[in-house]
Amino acid sequence: MTSTQSPGARAAGPRPWPLLGNLPAFARDPLAFFESLRDDYGDWVPWALGPQRNVLVSRPEHAGELLGAVEGTFKPTELGWAFRQLLGEGVVVATGDDWRRKRALVQPAVRPRQVRSYAATMVECADALAGTWCEGERVDVHREMAALTQRIAVRTLFGSDAAGREGPISAAMATAQRELGAEFRGLTLFLPPWVRTPGRRRMRRAVAVLDREIAYVIREHEAASNAGAERDDLLSRLLAARDEHGGPLSRKELRDESITLYIGGHETTSTTLTWAWQLLSGAPEARARLTDELDRVLGGRLPTYDDYVRLRWTRQVVKEALRIYPPIWLISAVAGQGASLGGRPVPEGTAVWTSPWSMHRDPRWFPDPESFRPERWDEDAPHAVPEHAWFPFGGGPRACLGARFALVEAALVLAVLAQRFHLDSGTERAGVFPGLTLQPKTRVLATLAAP
Ligand code: HEM
Repeated sequence: MTSTQSPGARAAGPRPWPLLGNLPAFARDPLAFFESLRDDYGDWVPWALGPQRNVLVSRPEHAGELLGAVEGTFKPTELGWAFRQLLGEGVVVATGDDWRRKRALVQPAVRPRQVRSYAATMVECADALAGTWCEGERVDVHREMAALTQRIAVRTLFGSDAAGREGPISAAMATAQRELGAEFRGLTLFLPPWVRTPGRRRMRRAVAVLDREIAYVIREHEAASNAGAERDDLLSRLLAARDEHGGPLSRKELRDESITLYIGGHETTSTTLTWAWQLLSGAPEARARLTDELDRVLGGRLPTYDDYVRLRWTRQVVKEALRIYPPIWLISAVAGQGASLGGRPVPEGTAVWTSPWSMHRDPRWFPDPESFRPERWDEDAPHAVPEHAWFPFGGGPRACLGARFALVEAALVLAVLAQRFHLDSGTERAGVFPGLTLQPKTRVLATLAAP
Protein backbone atom coordinates (compact mmCIF):
# COMPACT_ATOMS: atom_id res chain seq x y z
CA MET A 1 0.00 0.00 0.00
CA THR A 2 1.21 3.49 -0.77
CA SER A 3 1.05 6.22 1.84
CA THR A 4 -0.88 9.38 1.02
CA GLN A 5 0.28 11.31 4.05
CA SER A 6 1.78 14.76 3.73
CA PRO A 7 5.57 15.02 3.46
CA GLY A 8 7.38 15.08 6.71
CA ALA A 9 4.41 13.96 8.77
CA ARG A 10 6.57 11.15 10.11
CA ALA A 11 10.28 11.84 10.33
CA ALA A 12 11.17 8.27 11.28
CA GLY A 13 13.00 6.04 8.85
CA PRO A 14 14.35 2.49 8.93
CA ARG A 15 16.64 1.62 11.85
CA PRO A 16 20.31 1.90 10.77
CA TRP A 17 23.04 -0.68 11.55
CA PRO A 18 26.12 0.65 13.37
CA LEU A 19 28.65 1.95 10.79
CA LEU A 20 26.77 0.50 7.82
CA GLY A 21 23.52 2.39 8.24
CA ASN A 22 20.95 0.88 5.87
CA LEU A 23 23.57 -0.28 3.34
CA PRO A 24 22.71 -4.01 3.73
CA ALA A 25 19.03 -3.51 2.81
CA PHE A 26 19.92 -1.03 0.05
CA ALA A 27 22.57 -3.29 -1.50
CA ARG A 28 20.38 -6.41 -1.23
CA ASP A 29 17.47 -5.00 -3.24
CA PRO A 30 17.54 -1.23 -3.75
CA LEU A 31 14.26 -1.11 -5.69
CA ALA A 32 12.28 -2.92 -3.00
CA PHE A 33 14.11 -0.86 -0.38
CA PHE A 34 12.94 2.45 -1.87
CA GLU A 35 9.39 1.26 -2.34
CA SER A 36 9.26 0.04 1.24
CA LEU A 37 10.66 3.36 2.53
CA ARG A 38 7.82 5.18 0.79
CA ASP A 39 5.13 2.71 1.79
CA ASP A 40 6.24 2.30 5.41
CA TYR A 41 7.43 5.80 6.29
CA GLY A 42 5.89 8.29 3.84
CA ASP A 43 7.07 10.85 1.29
CA TRP A 44 10.06 12.16 3.21
CA VAL A 45 12.22 9.43 4.75
CA PRO A 46 15.61 9.77 6.44
CA TRP A 47 17.97 6.83 5.98
CA ALA A 48 21.72 6.23 6.04
CA LEU A 49 24.29 4.76 3.68
CA GLY A 50 27.36 4.09 5.80
CA PRO A 51 28.17 7.45 7.41
CA GLN A 52 26.16 9.38 4.80
CA ARG A 53 22.85 10.92 5.96
CA ASN A 54 20.15 10.61 3.32
CA VAL A 55 16.55 11.51 2.67
CA LEU A 56 14.28 9.83 0.11
CA VAL A 57 11.60 12.13 -1.32
CA SER A 58 8.63 10.61 -3.15
CA ARG A 59 6.46 13.52 -4.24
CA PRO A 60 6.76 14.85 -7.82
CA GLU A 61 6.99 18.48 -6.69
CA HIS A 62 9.92 17.62 -4.40
CA ALA A 63 11.70 15.74 -7.19
CA GLY A 64 11.18 18.74 -9.49
CA GLU A 65 12.39 21.22 -6.88
CA LEU A 66 15.44 19.08 -6.07
CA LEU A 67 16.50 18.68 -9.71
CA GLY A 68 15.93 22.38 -10.33
CA ALA A 69 18.24 23.29 -7.43
CA VAL A 70 21.22 21.14 -8.51
CA GLU A 71 24.21 23.41 -9.20
CA GLY A 72 22.47 25.93 -6.91
CA THR A 73 21.72 25.13 -3.28
CA PHE A 74 22.22 21.41 -4.01
CA LYS A 75 25.39 19.85 -5.46
CA PRO A 76 25.52 16.79 -7.69
CA THR A 77 26.43 13.63 -5.78
CA GLU A 78 30.12 12.86 -6.12
CA LEU A 79 30.70 9.89 -8.34
CA GLY A 80 33.16 7.24 -7.19
CA TRP A 81 36.42 5.72 -8.39
CA ALA A 82 35.01 3.69 -11.28
CA PHE A 83 33.15 6.65 -12.79
CA ARG A 84 36.25 8.83 -12.63
CA GLN A 85 38.46 6.15 -14.17
CA LEU A 86 36.14 5.82 -17.10
CA LEU A 87 34.55 9.22 -17.63
CA GLY A 88 37.51 11.31 -16.42
CA GLU A 89 36.21 14.84 -15.93
CA GLY A 90 33.44 14.53 -18.53
CA VAL A 91 30.21 16.51 -18.25
CA VAL A 92 28.52 13.87 -16.04
CA VAL A 93 31.36 14.04 -13.48
CA ALA A 94 32.22 17.77 -13.68
CA THR A 95 30.62 20.32 -11.36
CA GLY A 96 30.35 24.11 -11.05
CA ASP A 97 31.97 26.32 -13.71
CA ASP A 98 33.82 23.37 -15.25
CA TRP A 99 30.49 21.58 -15.76
CA ARG A 100 28.84 24.75 -17.17
CA ARG A 101 31.59 25.14 -19.78
CA LYS A 102 31.49 21.47 -20.78
CA ARG A 103 27.71 21.28 -20.96
CA ALA A 104 27.69 24.35 -23.21
CA LEU A 105 30.30 22.72 -25.45
CA VAL A 106 28.60 19.32 -25.68
CA GLN A 107 24.96 20.45 -25.95
CA PRO A 108 25.06 21.73 -29.56
CA ALA A 109 26.20 18.29 -30.76
CA VAL A 110 22.98 16.65 -29.51
CA ARG A 111 20.44 19.35 -30.42
CA PRO A 112 17.31 18.16 -32.28
CA ARG A 113 18.72 19.66 -35.51
CA GLN A 114 21.78 17.44 -35.17
CA VAL A 115 19.76 14.41 -34.09
CA ARG A 116 18.11 14.63 -37.51
CA SER A 117 21.45 13.76 -39.11
CA TYR A 118 21.99 10.78 -36.77
CA ALA A 119 18.50 9.39 -37.51
CA ALA A 120 19.57 7.94 -40.86
CA THR A 121 22.34 5.94 -39.13
CA MET A 122 19.86 4.67 -36.53
CA VAL A 123 17.48 3.46 -39.26
CA GLU A 124 20.28 1.98 -41.36
CA CYS A 125 21.65 -0.05 -38.42
CA ALA A 126 18.16 -1.30 -37.42
CA ASP A 127 17.39 -2.26 -41.01
CA ALA A 128 20.67 -4.16 -41.27
CA LEU A 129 19.76 -6.08 -38.11
CA ALA A 130 16.30 -6.91 -39.48
CA GLY A 131 18.05 -8.28 -42.56
CA THR A 132 19.85 -10.88 -40.42
CA TRP A 133 16.66 -12.07 -38.69
CA CYS A 134 14.33 -14.83 -39.97
CA GLU A 135 10.82 -15.72 -38.91
CA GLY A 136 10.77 -18.66 -36.51
CA GLU A 137 14.27 -17.86 -35.20
CA ARG A 138 14.79 -17.46 -31.46
CA VAL A 139 16.73 -14.38 -30.32
CA ASP A 140 18.09 -13.02 -27.05
CA VAL A 141 16.33 -9.64 -27.13
CA HIS A 142 18.62 -7.77 -24.74
CA ARG A 143 21.74 -9.02 -26.49
CA GLU A 144 20.37 -8.02 -29.91
CA MET A 145 19.31 -4.57 -28.69
CA ALA A 146 22.64 -4.00 -26.91
CA ALA A 147 24.60 -4.91 -30.05
CA LEU A 148 22.36 -2.65 -32.12
CA THR A 149 22.58 0.41 -29.86
CA GLN A 150 26.33 -0.12 -29.51
CA ARG A 151 26.70 -0.05 -33.28
CA ILE A 152 24.53 3.07 -33.47
CA ALA A 153 26.53 4.73 -30.67
CA VAL A 154 29.91 4.00 -32.26
CA ARG A 155 28.75 5.10 -35.73
CA THR A 156 27.01 8.29 -34.63
CA LEU A 157 29.93 9.19 -32.36
CA PHE A 158 32.87 8.33 -34.54
CA GLY A 159 31.51 7.91 -38.07
CA SER A 160 33.46 5.72 -40.42
CA ASP A 161 36.75 6.09 -38.51
CA ALA A 162 35.61 3.45 -36.06
CA ALA A 163 34.89 0.88 -38.76
CA GLY A 164 36.63 -2.34 -37.78
CA ARG A 165 37.30 -1.09 -34.25
CA GLU A 166 33.78 -1.50 -32.90
CA GLY A 167 34.61 -4.92 -31.41
CA PRO A 168 37.38 -3.86 -28.98
CA ILE A 169 35.59 -0.60 -28.10
CA SER A 170 32.31 -2.39 -27.31
CA ALA A 171 34.01 -5.19 -25.33
CA ALA A 172 36.00 -2.71 -23.21
CA MET A 173 32.90 -0.58 -22.61
CA ALA A 174 30.94 -3.65 -21.51
CA THR A 175 33.62 -4.58 -18.95
CA ALA A 176 33.78 -1.01 -17.67
CA GLN A 177 30.01 -0.84 -17.33
CA ARG A 178 29.93 -3.88 -15.06
CA GLU A 179 32.29 -2.21 -12.57
CA LEU A 180 30.30 1.04 -12.77
CA GLY A 181 27.19 -0.98 -11.96
CA ALA A 182 28.77 -2.51 -8.86
CA GLU A 183 29.85 0.92 -7.66
CA PHE A 184 26.47 2.43 -8.40
CA ARG A 185 24.78 -0.10 -6.17
CA GLY A 186 27.05 0.84 -3.30
CA LEU A 187 29.03 -2.41 -3.36
CA THR A 188 32.44 -0.81 -3.87
CA LEU A 189 31.50 2.80 -3.14
CA PHE A 190 33.33 3.03 0.17
CA LEU A 191 36.54 1.29 -0.87
CA PRO A 192 39.45 3.76 -0.97
CA PRO A 193 40.96 4.28 -4.45
CA TRP A 194 44.16 2.38 -3.56
CA VAL A 195 42.35 -0.88 -2.78
CA ARG A 196 42.86 -3.32 -5.64
CA THR A 197 40.05 -5.72 -6.47
CA PRO A 198 39.75 -8.07 -9.46
CA GLY A 199 36.94 -5.84 -10.77
CA ARG A 200 39.13 -2.75 -10.53
CA ARG A 201 41.96 -4.52 -12.35
CA ARG A 202 39.56 -5.43 -15.15
CA MET A 203 38.39 -1.83 -15.19
CA ARG A 204 41.94 -0.47 -15.56
CA ARG A 205 42.63 -2.84 -18.46
CA ALA A 206 39.35 -1.86 -20.17
CA VAL A 207 40.11 1.85 -19.75
CA ALA A 208 43.57 1.33 -21.26
CA VAL A 209 41.98 -0.27 -24.36
CA LEU A 210 39.48 2.58 -24.66
CA ASP A 211 42.16 5.23 -24.28
CA ARG A 212 44.16 3.65 -27.08
CA GLU A 213 41.19 3.18 -29.43
CA ILE A 214 39.69 6.59 -28.86
CA ALA A 215 43.05 8.34 -29.20
CA TYR A 216 43.33 6.68 -32.62
CA VAL A 217 39.86 7.82 -33.69
CA ILE A 218 40.50 11.38 -32.47
CA ARG A 219 43.80 11.55 -34.42
CA GLU A 220 42.01 10.33 -37.57
CA HIS A 221 39.31 12.97 -37.09
CA GLU A 222 41.84 15.72 -36.55
CA ALA A 223 43.68 14.71 -39.70
CA ALA A 224 40.44 14.67 -41.71
CA SER A 225 39.39 18.02 -40.29
CA ASN A 226 42.80 19.54 -41.10
CA ALA A 227 42.38 18.24 -44.64
CA GLY A 228 39.06 20.12 -44.84
CA ALA A 229 36.76 17.06 -44.76
CA GLU A 230 33.19 17.76 -43.62
CA ARG A 231 31.74 15.21 -41.25
CA ASP A 232 28.52 15.09 -39.32
CA ASP A 233 29.30 12.66 -36.50
CA LEU A 234 29.27 13.66 -32.83
CA LEU A 235 33.04 13.69 -32.44
CA SER A 236 33.44 16.07 -35.40
CA ARG A 237 30.96 18.42 -33.75
CA LEU A 238 32.87 18.22 -30.47
CA LEU A 239 36.11 18.95 -32.35
CA ALA A 240 34.53 22.04 -33.89
CA ALA A 241 32.99 23.27 -30.61
CA ARG A 242 34.41 26.46 -29.07
CA ASP A 243 33.83 27.87 -25.59
CA GLU A 244 32.99 31.51 -24.87
CA HIS A 245 36.68 32.44 -25.12
CA GLY A 246 37.01 30.66 -28.46
CA GLY A 247 38.85 27.72 -26.89
CA PRO A 248 38.35 24.13 -28.16
CA LEU A 249 38.05 20.99 -26.05
CA SER A 250 41.48 19.52 -25.31
CA ARG A 251 42.33 15.96 -26.43
CA LYS A 252 41.72 14.69 -22.90
CA GLU A 253 38.36 16.48 -22.85
CA LEU A 254 37.44 15.00 -26.22
CA ARG A 255 38.26 11.55 -24.86
CA ASP A 256 36.20 12.14 -21.72
CA GLU A 257 33.15 13.48 -23.55
CA SER A 258 33.26 10.74 -26.20
CA ILE A 259 33.16 8.06 -23.50
CA THR A 260 30.51 10.00 -21.58
CA LEU A 261 28.21 10.16 -24.60
CA TYR A 262 28.78 6.49 -25.34
CA ILE A 263 28.13 5.36 -21.75
CA GLY A 264 25.25 7.82 -21.31
CA GLY A 265 23.63 6.77 -24.51
CA HIS A 266 23.83 3.18 -25.44
CA GLU A 267 22.95 0.99 -22.45
CA THR A 268 20.07 3.26 -21.40
CA THR A 269 18.56 2.98 -24.86
CA SER A 270 19.16 -0.76 -25.25
CA THR A 271 17.41 -1.52 -21.97
CA THR A 272 14.53 0.79 -22.96
CA LEU A 273 14.10 -1.15 -26.20
CA THR A 274 14.38 -4.54 -24.49
CA TRP A 275 11.66 -3.64 -22.02
CA ALA A 276 9.50 -2.12 -24.75
CA TRP A 277 9.61 -5.41 -26.73
CA GLN A 278 8.83 -7.41 -23.63
CA LEU A 279 5.89 -5.18 -22.74
CA LEU A 280 4.56 -5.26 -26.30
CA SER A 281 4.80 -9.04 -26.35
CA GLY A 282 2.29 -9.22 -23.50
CA ALA A 283 -0.02 -6.57 -24.96
CA PRO A 284 -1.73 -7.69 -28.21
CA GLU A 285 -3.95 -4.60 -28.41
CA ALA A 286 -1.06 -2.16 -28.06
CA ARG A 287 0.82 -4.20 -30.67
CA ALA A 288 -2.12 -4.09 -33.08
CA ARG A 289 -2.27 -0.29 -32.75
CA LEU A 290 1.46 -0.14 -33.39
CA THR A 291 1.20 -2.26 -36.56
CA ASP A 292 -1.72 -0.14 -37.66
CA GLU A 293 0.17 3.12 -37.16
CA LEU A 294 3.27 1.82 -38.93
CA ASP A 295 1.16 0.70 -41.93
CA ARG A 296 -0.66 4.00 -42.05
CA VAL A 297 2.34 6.32 -41.64
CA LEU A 298 5.07 4.35 -43.36
CA GLY A 299 3.22 1.97 -45.69
CA GLY A 300 6.17 -0.43 -45.75
CA ARG A 301 8.98 2.10 -46.27
CA LEU A 302 11.76 2.89 -43.77
CA PRO A 303 11.10 5.78 -41.36
CA THR A 304 12.95 9.10 -41.50
CA TYR A 305 13.49 11.70 -38.80
CA ASP A 306 10.34 13.54 -39.96
CA ASP A 307 8.24 10.46 -39.26
CA TYR A 308 9.20 10.60 -35.58
CA VAL A 309 6.55 13.24 -34.88
CA ARG A 310 3.92 11.36 -36.91
CA LEU A 311 4.53 8.07 -35.06
CA ARG A 312 2.52 9.12 -32.06
CA TRP A 313 1.54 5.69 -30.75
CA THR A 314 5.11 4.41 -31.21
CA ARG A 315 6.33 7.34 -29.10
CA GLN A 316 3.71 6.55 -26.44
CA VAL A 317 4.93 2.95 -26.33
CA VAL A 318 8.46 4.22 -25.65
CA LYS A 319 7.21 6.68 -23.04
CA GLU A 320 5.25 4.00 -21.23
CA ALA A 321 8.21 1.57 -21.33
CA LEU A 322 10.37 4.33 -19.79
CA ARG A 323 7.74 4.75 -17.09
CA ILE A 324 7.54 1.11 -16.07
CA TYR A 325 11.27 0.47 -16.46
CA PRO A 326 13.19 3.76 -16.13
CA PRO A 327 16.80 2.87 -17.03
CA ILE A 328 18.16 5.39 -14.50
CA TRP A 329 16.25 4.34 -11.44
CA LEU A 330 17.91 6.62 -8.91
CA ILE A 331 18.94 10.28 -8.79
CA SER A 332 20.46 12.17 -5.87
CA ALA A 333 21.96 15.51 -4.92
CA VAL A 334 23.69 16.79 -1.80
CA ALA A 335 22.42 19.75 0.21
CA GLY A 336 24.72 22.77 0.36
CA GLN A 337 24.55 25.61 2.87
CA GLY A 338 21.05 26.99 3.33
CA ALA A 339 19.37 24.27 1.23
CA SER A 340 15.68 23.62 1.66
CA LEU A 341 13.04 21.51 -0.02
CA GLY A 342 9.27 21.84 0.15
CA GLY A 343 9.81 24.77 2.52
CA ARG A 344 11.76 22.72 5.04
CA PRO A 345 15.49 23.14 5.68
CA VAL A 346 17.81 20.30 4.70
CA PRO A 347 21.05 20.06 6.75
CA GLU A 348 24.20 20.68 4.75
CA GLY A 349 25.78 17.44 3.52
CA THR A 350 22.52 15.47 3.47
CA ALA A 351 22.06 13.51 0.24
CA VAL A 352 18.49 13.78 -1.04
CA TRP A 353 17.40 10.90 -3.26
CA THR A 354 14.48 10.45 -5.55
CA SER A 355 13.71 7.35 -7.55
CA PRO A 356 12.08 7.34 -11.00
CA TRP A 357 11.40 3.63 -10.34
CA SER A 358 9.25 4.17 -7.25
CA MET A 359 7.73 7.47 -8.47
CA HIS A 360 6.67 5.88 -11.78
CA ARG A 361 5.04 3.02 -9.89
CA ASP A 362 3.13 5.14 -7.43
CA PRO A 363 -0.64 4.62 -7.94
CA ARG A 364 -1.31 8.19 -6.83
CA TRP A 365 0.23 9.46 -10.07
CA PHE A 366 -0.25 6.39 -12.29
CA PRO A 367 -3.39 4.35 -11.60
CA ASP A 368 -2.77 0.60 -11.94
CA PRO A 369 0.94 1.34 -12.26
CA GLU A 370 2.12 -2.15 -13.25
CA SER A 371 -0.13 -2.16 -16.33
CA PHE A 372 1.41 -1.33 -19.68
CA ARG A 373 -0.97 1.27 -21.08
CA PRO A 374 0.50 3.56 -23.72
CA GLU A 375 -2.96 5.18 -23.91
CA ARG A 376 -2.16 6.90 -20.59
CA TRP A 377 -0.26 9.33 -22.77
CA ASP A 378 -3.17 10.11 -25.12
CA GLU A 379 -3.78 13.85 -25.30
CA ASP A 380 -7.30 13.38 -23.91
CA ALA A 381 -6.40 10.74 -21.28
CA PRO A 382 -8.74 11.00 -18.26
CA HIS A 383 -6.02 10.96 -15.60
CA ALA A 384 -3.58 13.88 -15.88
CA VAL A 385 -0.01 12.99 -14.89
CA PRO A 386 1.39 15.56 -12.43
CA GLU A 387 4.45 17.51 -13.52
CA HIS A 388 7.72 15.72 -12.59
CA ALA A 389 5.93 12.40 -11.85
CA TRP A 390 7.48 11.02 -15.07
CA PHE A 391 11.17 11.89 -15.14
CA PRO A 392 13.28 9.18 -16.76
CA PHE A 393 15.65 11.86 -18.06
CA GLY A 394 15.99 13.70 -14.74
CA GLY A 395 15.29 17.44 -14.91
CA GLY A 396 16.58 20.90 -14.11
CA PRO A 397 19.92 22.24 -15.30
CA ARG A 398 21.56 18.79 -15.32
CA ALA A 399 18.78 17.01 -17.20
CA CYS A 400 19.84 14.41 -19.73
CA LEU A 401 21.57 15.94 -22.72
CA GLY A 402 20.67 13.02 -24.94
CA ALA A 403 16.91 12.75 -24.29
CA ARG A 404 15.93 13.69 -27.83
CA PHE A 405 18.59 11.41 -29.27
CA ALA A 406 17.35 8.50 -27.14
CA LEU A 407 13.64 9.03 -27.84
CA VAL A 408 14.21 9.29 -31.58
CA GLU A 409 16.48 6.24 -31.58
CA ALA A 410 14.05 4.08 -29.59
CA ALA A 411 11.04 5.08 -31.72
CA LEU A 412 12.81 4.64 -35.06
CA VAL A 413 14.32 1.27 -34.09
CA LEU A 414 10.90 0.03 -32.95
CA ALA A 415 9.35 1.31 -36.18
CA VAL A 416 11.89 -0.44 -38.41
CA LEU A 417 11.79 -3.79 -36.61
CA ALA A 418 8.09 -3.93 -35.68
CA GLN A 419 7.15 -3.47 -39.34
CA ARG A 420 8.78 -6.82 -40.05
CA PHE A 421 8.62 -8.82 -36.83
CA HIS A 422 6.70 -9.53 -33.68
CA LEU A 423 9.20 -10.43 -30.93
CA ASP A 424 7.19 -13.03 -29.10
CA SER A 425 8.64 -13.47 -25.61
CA GLY A 426 5.33 -14.58 -24.10
CA THR A 427 3.39 -12.63 -21.53
CA GLU A 428 5.55 -13.13 -18.45
CA ARG A 429 7.88 -10.24 -17.64
CA ALA A 430 11.53 -10.80 -16.66
CA GLY A 431 12.65 -9.72 -13.19
CA VAL A 432 14.76 -6.57 -12.90
CA PHE A 433 18.41 -6.16 -12.00
CA PRO A 434 19.25 -2.62 -10.88
CA GLY A 435 22.81 -2.19 -12.16
CA LEU A 436 24.02 1.03 -13.69
CA THR A 437 20.76 0.82 -15.61
CA LEU A 438 17.65 -1.23 -14.95
CA GLN A 439 18.31 -4.48 -16.76
CA PRO A 440 16.41 -7.73 -17.12
CA LYS A 441 17.58 -10.20 -14.49
CA THR A 442 17.32 -13.14 -16.87
CA ARG A 443 17.66 -13.51 -20.61
CA VAL A 444 14.63 -12.30 -22.59
CA LEU A 445 14.22 -14.90 -25.33
CA ALA A 446 11.79 -14.20 -28.14
CA THR A 447 10.63 -16.11 -31.19
CA LEU A 448 10.52 -13.93 -34.28
CA ALA A 449 7.05 -14.01 -35.79
CA ALA A 450 5.13 -12.04 -38.40
CA PRO A 451 3.78 -8.75 -37.00
C1 HEM B 1 16.62 6.19 -22.59
C2 HEM B 1 17.82 6.73 -22.61
C3 HEM B 1 18.36 7.65 -21.56
C4 HEM B 1 17.98 7.85 -20.26
C5 HEM B 1 16.84 7.18 -19.51
C6 HEM B 1 18.87 8.86 -19.70
C7 HEM B 1 18.76 9.35 -18.41
C8 HEM B 1 19.55 10.35 -17.89
C9 HEM B 1 19.39 10.96 -16.59
C10 HEM B 1 18.31 10.55 -15.58
C11 HEM B 1 20.33 11.90 -16.44
C12 HEM B 1 20.52 12.84 -15.23
C13 HEM B 1 21.24 12.13 -14.13
C14 HEM B 1 21.32 12.98 -12.86
O1 HEM B 1 20.71 14.03 -12.76
O2 HEM B 1 21.99 12.51 -11.94
C15 HEM B 1 21.13 11.90 -17.65
C16 HEM B 1 22.21 12.72 -17.86
C17 HEM B 1 22.95 12.71 -19.01
N1 HEM B 1 22.69 11.99 -20.16
FE1 HEM B 1 21.19 10.67 -20.44
N2 HEM B 1 19.76 9.22 -20.65
C18 HEM B 1 19.50 8.53 -21.81
C19 HEM B 1 20.15 8.65 -23.00
C20 HEM B 1 21.22 9.47 -23.25
C21 HEM B 1 21.89 9.61 -24.51
C22 HEM B 1 21.45 8.91 -25.81
C23 HEM B 1 22.93 10.46 -24.32
C24 HEM B 1 23.94 10.97 -25.30
C25 HEM B 1 23.82 10.93 -26.62
C26 HEM B 1 22.90 10.88 -22.92
C27 HEM B 1 23.79 11.75 -22.36
C28 HEM B 1 23.67 12.26 -21.07
C29 HEM B 1 24.61 13.23 -20.51
C30 HEM B 1 25.83 13.80 -21.20
C31 HEM B 1 24.15 13.51 -19.22
C32 HEM B 1 24.80 14.45 -18.18
C33 HEM B 1 24.19 15.83 -18.23
C34 HEM B 1 24.78 16.78 -17.18
O3 HEM B 1 25.26 16.31 -16.14
O4 HEM B 1 24.75 18.00 -17.41
N3 HEM B 1 21.84 10.25 -22.32
N4 HEM B 1 20.62 10.96 -18.51
